[in-house]
Amino acid sequence: MPVEVLIPEDALRARIHELGAEVAREYAGKPLTIVAVLTGSLIVLADLIRSIDVPHRIGLVHASSYRGATTTGSTLVINEALAPDVADRDVLLLDDILDTGRTLAALVDHIAVRGARSVRTAVLLRKLGRQIVPLEPDYCGFTIPDAFVVGYGLDYDDDYRHLPYVGVLKEGMIGRPPRDP
Ligand code: IMP
Ligand code: MG
Repeated sequence: MPVEVLIPEDALRARIHELGAEVAREYAGKPLTIVAVLTGSLIVLADLIRSIDVPHRIGLVHASSYRGATTTGSTLVINEALAPDVADRDVLLLDDILDTGRTLAALVDHIAVRGARSVRTAVLLRKLGRQIVPLEPDYCGFTIPDAFVVGYGLDYDDDYRHLPYVGVLKEGMIGRPPRDP
């Protein structure tokens, strides 16, 4: 496998369960809507909500800024075609990873102007030393070193999302077609 395990399956499961319990405690009795950022947060969404044992809705937005392994020169495109009505809802925005912070910061503004009662943020991963836009996530699963990670929803050129763990692409894999042997 061209990927080295960084966060194994059992560690992901345990931490996401903790986060879910925390979210449930803090949003009990509130009109919670979790808005997940496609495509990377699909898997953490599915696991997280099964640990949130208070009523809540889910919604989806699509954001992309990434081309391969670099953000350089890319523009952020937000597609709200699927976005739910968040008027008077307490929104928890969920993304797979906080890198530069541009995606989440832009989405917080988008949700706020749509009349949400509150907007907070949750990320599975936070990459050290990459943040450009100041934003402190309210919930964070793991802090990771500045490496390109894949798996558990995260992709490289739209591949590797299916891996049940978070891993680092081994030397030489970036810049190469992902399906090369
Ligand atoms: P930001 O706007 O720079 O914070 O980027 C966040 C988005 O970039 C995430 O939603 C991911 O889709 C993508 N991203 C950032 N770092 C990685 C990585 O290491 N692996 C895969 N995707 C990443
Ligand atoms: Mg993403």
